[in-house]
Amino acid sequence: MPRQSGYEGQIPESLETLTLNHEMIQFRKQHLGRYLETLVTRPYDEKMVQYLDLVGKIHTPKAGSPALNVPLVQMNALMGFVSTALINTILGLNLDRATEVITLIAFNKLLWIQNDLINRHYQA
Ligand code: HEM
Repeated sequence: MPRQSGYEGQIPESLETLTLNHEMIQFRKQHLGRYLETLVTRPYDEKMVQYLDLVGKIHTPKAGSPALNVPLVQMNALMGFVSTALINTILGLNLDRATEVITLIAFNKLLWIQNDLINRHYQA
């Protein structure tokens, strides 16, 4: 519900009237889309590691809007969704079996690292 950093549009009036098509939810989905694009386009250098760490931190008051503190249970739930989306995408590429297996293993490893780079910002 609170305004997120970088968003200048309308704020939802109440949680009850908030829909998936609301401008602010669309904005949030664009961030998630850009994150997924980044995972498969940017080089895995120091800057990338800092970005993956910021993605974890920005959901707590320690980065971005201090008014936002996304519960860890929801972060984990969305990680589950992202994981399934990546698996389905990879399986849909019709890669040869050996490439498919190493690609699945690589993204699985990446998501566990992202998981750590989320969790560490939730520790007291
Ligand atoms: C797999 C888990 C998630 C990923 C990968 C993700 C990705 C992102 C990214 C890339 C940003 C923008 C960072 C930037 O400015 O470049 C962001 C911001 C944000 N996300 Fe997520 N997100 C996740 C889970 C969630 C969940 C579960 C919620 C809410 C229920 C949420 C709400 C927000 C909000 C409110 C912001 C803005 C924070 C601020 O302005 O301070 N995110 N997210």
